[in-house]
Order: sequence, then C-alpha cells, then structure tokens
Amino acid sequence: MARKIGFLLILIVELVFSVQLSAQKVEPIVVSVEKPIAPIQSTMWGIFFEDINFAADGGLYAELVKNRSFEFAKPLLGWKIVKADATEGLLVLNRGESETNNPRYVRISRTNAEEKFGLENEGFRGMGIKKGMKYHFSLLARIQTGPSMKIRLELIGGEGAVIGSAEVVPGPGDWKRYQVDFTSVEGDPKAKMVLWFEGVGALDLDMISLFPDDTWKNRQGGLRSDLVQLLADLKPGFLRFPGGCIVEGYELATRYQWKKTVGKLEERKTMINRWNTEFKHRPTPDYYQSFGMGFFEYFQLAEDLGAEPLPILSCGMACQFNSAEVVPMDQLEPYIQDALDLIEFANGPVESQWGKVRANMGHPAPFNLKMLGVGNEQWGAQYIERYQAFVRKIKEKYPQMTLVTGTGPSPDGKFFDFAAGELKRLHAEIVDEHYYAPSEWFLKNATRYDHYDRNGYKIFAGEYAAQSKSTVNPENKNTWKCALAEAAFMTGLERNADVVSLCSYAPLFAHVDAWQWTPDLIWFDNLKSFGTANYYVQKLYSNNKGSQVLPMLWNREPLTGQDGLYGSAAMDQRTDEIILKLINASNKEVKQSIRLDVRKQVSPKATLSVLKSNSTEDVNSLEQPKLVAPVEQVFTVQGKMIKAVLAPNSFSVYRIKVKK
Ligand code: AHR
Repeated sequence: MARKIGFLLILIVELVFSVQLSAQKVEPIVVSVEKPIAPIQSTMWGIFFEDINFAADGGLYAELVKNRSFEFAKPLLGWKIVKADATEGLLVLNRGESETNNPRYVRISRTNAEEKFGLENEGFRGMGIKKGMKYHFSLLARIQTGPSMKIRLELIGGEGAVIGSAEVVPGPGDWKRYQVDFTSVEGDPKAKMVLWFEGVGALDLDMISLFPDDTWKNRQGGLRSDLVQLLADLKPGFLRFPGGCIVEGYELATRYQWKKTVGKLEERKTMINRWNTEFKHRPTPDYYQSFGMGFFEYFQLAEDLGAEPLPILSCGMACQFNSAEVVPMDQLEPYIQDALDLIEFANGPVESQWGKVRANMGHPAPFNLKMLGVGNEQWGAQYIERYQAFVRKIKEKYPQMTLVTGTGPSPDGKFFDFAAGELKRLHAEIVDEHYYAPSEWFLKNATRYDHYDRNGYKIFAGEYAAQSKSTVNPENKNTWKCALAEAAFMTGLERNADVVSLCSYAPLFAHVDAWQWTPDLIWFDNLKSFGTANYYVQKLYSNNKGSQVLPMLWNREPLTGQDGLYGSAAMDQRTDEIILKLINASNKEVKQSIRLDVRKQVSPKATLSVLKSNSTEDVNSLEQPKLVAPVEQVFTVQGKMIKAVLAPNSFSVYRIKVKK
C-alpha cells in the first residue's frame, strides 16, 4: 500500500512539473519596447590592440623588412650575408646611443668588382608578395669611399625565381633617403629580399625598408589594408592601445614609453617585445618593436575607424607576473608627466610642445582624447597608491578626462576584491575587468552584472575570451563552443549597459606562424586573414548595438540560461529598429514565440542573422575562413509576434522596424 502511495505521489509530482514546463514553453518572451531601461554607450563594443602574436611588426604594420635598422640585440638577426667569399664584406657600426635612438648601421666594403656580394632579409616568416603589386623600397645611405655602388634588389620566390627587382645608386654627400618603386611579376607568401652590391667602395646603410603600395588609405609606409578592413567592419566604439602587458614591460626599463614611438621613424627606439621571451613553449627570438606603428598611428587608426582612442599608460609598475618592479613614489613624477604630455599630444594646440609634434606629423587637428587608462593588470596597495597620484595630477589639469583603472588579471579572488573595494571608495570612473576562463564560466556569468552597484563605477570588460583548454594553453582553439559562450555572456553585458560601458575581446591578432597566445580574434599569414567565430560574435554585437536596452523577459525573468536560452534586446533610436539577440546554447532546436509590446505597428519584413555551425568544435581557418559566419535572411513578423525557431547551439539577431 505504502509503495502504491509513493508511486502515486511521484506521478503527481511529475505531472505538476510537466504541466509547469509546458506552461513555460507556451509563455512567450516579452519585449517591452516602451520601457527602455538604460542608454547604451556609443563606446559599448570596441577593440583591444596589443603587439602580441606579431600583431604590429609582422602584422598590421605593413613593413616587410625585419630588423630594418639593425637594432635587434643580434644586429644581423633576420639578415644573411650571401656569397660571403668576397674579400671584404659587412661591418656593423655603432654611432653611440648618445647620438641617436638608432645607433647601428652597416657598412658594405668592396675592393673587387668581380665578386658577388649580397645581403638577404627573410622578412617576418617570409615576405608576402602579391603579383602585379607596386612596392616601395627605401633606405638611408651614405657613400663612405667612392665613387658609388649600385644596389640591385631582387625579390626571390619559393622556387628561387626573381619575382621583382629594382636598382638604386646612392649619390654623394651625407646620409640621404633613397626610394625606388617597382612592380612584382609574381606573388609568393614567403618570398625573401636580396640586395646585391655592385662596384667598389664603402657604402653605409640603415633603415632598409620595403612596403606594398596597397596599404590602408594608400598611406605610404602604412598599415595592412586587409587587417584594418576587418577592424573597420566591426564598427568599433573605441580602440584600446597599446596593450596589455606590453604597457608594463617585463621590467620598468622595457615598459611602453609613448614618447619614444612618435616623430621620425629613424628616431623611434627599437626595443625587444616582451612576448619575445614570455613563454618557454612559444619562444620568439625575432620579436621586437620597431614602433613604426607608434602612438600617432594608433590615434590615426582610431580616427579612421570612428572609434574613441583609449591609450593605457604605465603607472610605474612592471608586469607583476615578471619582475614586479615598482618605481618609488618619490620618483613617479616622470610617469605622470608622460600622461599629461600625452593629453597635450592628443588634444593640445599646435603651439604647445606636444601639440606641435602631432602637427609636424601631419595632424594639426586634435585627436579629441577623452579617456586614459592608468596601468594595465596591476594589483595590490602599491597600485592604488600610484593610481591616486595619477588621478590627482591629471584631474587638476584636465578635469574632463575620464580615467580608466583596473582590478588585475582575475575577475574574482583576493586581489580583485581588494582593488574593487578601494576603487569604489575612491570613486573610480571606469574599472577594467579581465576574464580569460572556460566557456562554462561565460555561460554561468551572464548574470554577473545584474546585481552590480548602480551608483558605483562603470565597467570596462577590457579583456575576455573563452578558453577551450585553459588560460595560456597553446592548445586553445577559437571553437564555436567558446564563441557561443561569449555571445551568451555578452547578453549580460548588454542587459546591464547602465553599468557596463566598454567591452573588448582579447587578444586581437595572431600570425599563424608566429603567435605566442591563443585564442585570438583575427588570424593571418603574410597575405591572407580571417575572422574567427568569436570575431563574428563581436561583429554581430557591434553592428547591432542599438541605443537603449529594452526589457526582455520570459516568465517575468531575464533570459539568463533557462533551458539553454540567453537573450537581450535593444532599441536603435537612429533607425527605429528593435534588435533582439537570442542564444540557444542547448543541443536541441527551440521553438519560441516572442511578443513585442509596442504601441506602433512594426514592419512585417524583418532581418535575421544566424550564426551556427554543424559542430561546436568547428573553427575558422585560412582554408575555411567562413566555416562559422553569419547568414542573413528575411524574416516575417506576424503582427507583433515572432515565431522564433532557434537552431541548436546558435546565435540569432533579429532587426525589426517600427513603423512611423
Ligand atoms: O591578452 C593577453 C594578455 O592577457 C594581456 O597582455 C594581459 O593584459 C593579459 O594578461
């Protein structure tokens, strides 16, 4: 009898549960268009740039010659002497650091005109040469003993064929820049450049450079256009630069110093890149910073992209994972002065000391800098103390400047809690939080900001990426599973746009042959590039930003993972469109109706972009760059109802026009 009652009870419970479940299923998701919750900042979705994985030199910065000024620790790294049977050859000379930031140059000496002598540059894991493309070859040269030597350039393709050539004959006098343009006859992703020297005498050379003509906006000596185009397509709200840990340096001496990255190219001091030695499993001995892409170029890029510039400066603390050096408080002044001078460089009148540098570089108009970051991933009391010193001095002179600070490398734990408490007490304006975590963390944390203090600081989700294995694991892949989890998490960022005002995935770029850190948003080789699944998630968010958050409720609750569903909604007041983002992170198809609570009529014709893939392990690649990429279709709204069919593991974005 007791068994029978027990069985009956179980049946009743199951019945009640299934009735509840089916009641939930028929309940539509409701979007209250007339009750916006908060404005969405124009800066909401942006870009984090760091020179890691050959992102600048060997990547975005289109220079093809590696170690063009012989300033790497090994002066001939990247170079090879060919036909070294010549009686005399090459000497590395040093003018002395007191003279210049670019002390080294090479002297080619020849006494026998019959012998062949050449200097070969391997490029950044080869040189990507396009067929029929114009190239600009330039160098600084000086004849030491004459009359003169002819320099014959040859681009050599994989099969040993000459795929491009040019000649330069330096004239008499002191150091001069020479340039010759030529067109390649064939293409090759891994060509090399050989300079043959003909005649006798001694010739000094420096700043040996080769650029393609098709740089972004056709600026000579500029940026790789395919890579900038991928950034432009994101329509980013801000550009954070130059990092990342590169800001801090392994030690203080190798911190990023913006003043050494502006002005004439040959006066920018080449320095080791901190990612050169960071990971024993990914050593990159040929990774240096030429600063051909320096602070002027970052500001210019931000302007080109229509993004707010967000420079991050050293706060007098080297990377705490490395040397952890800190500058004593009574010696912090030059670091703060760098920040004040940077504001003048960006915004100051052309008559000011640093405004003049900007104008001389070709940009008399200000860059309109509004935000500045103090330190990258710092932690502990020593950070708070230094941050406060920066705030005092900067606010005194530039009260309108918004300062960005951070809570260290983790989104929780004792360093995080300490920093968060202190920064709240100090009324910090924008606080940078970083999360590199498994995809499960991202799914679980879609509610992270639902209960954040509405009267405290604003959040900059400054570095995030789901890790398929574990953080800094070289096996990490940009899987669809990771990207989908990020999309789910980002519904929580969008829903809380009253607290969260800037967000960026990190890192941004990686060269397929020269990376140190994975996963990354965009991958490239010497000629091609592609956006990852994560890139398309970012793009769907930033291209469908909207201007106000709308309530989107299911059974009176936000969609934060019930039955694997995540969602957020926005209104774009500029275009009068309702934008819905829905993530189905489950393995089954979900049919779900959505009701739009809106006074006006909506257009029956809506657009739907769907990002999905056959397997959650799918990744984009050079061979299959769009395996996971959004597909757009037209969608019919029935009255004010949407009958959504959400494929398993998919991300859908609906845009519905409200009629006038
Ligand atoms: O994005 C890679 C690194 O991760 C950044 O340099 C640093 O800020 C973080 O630890």
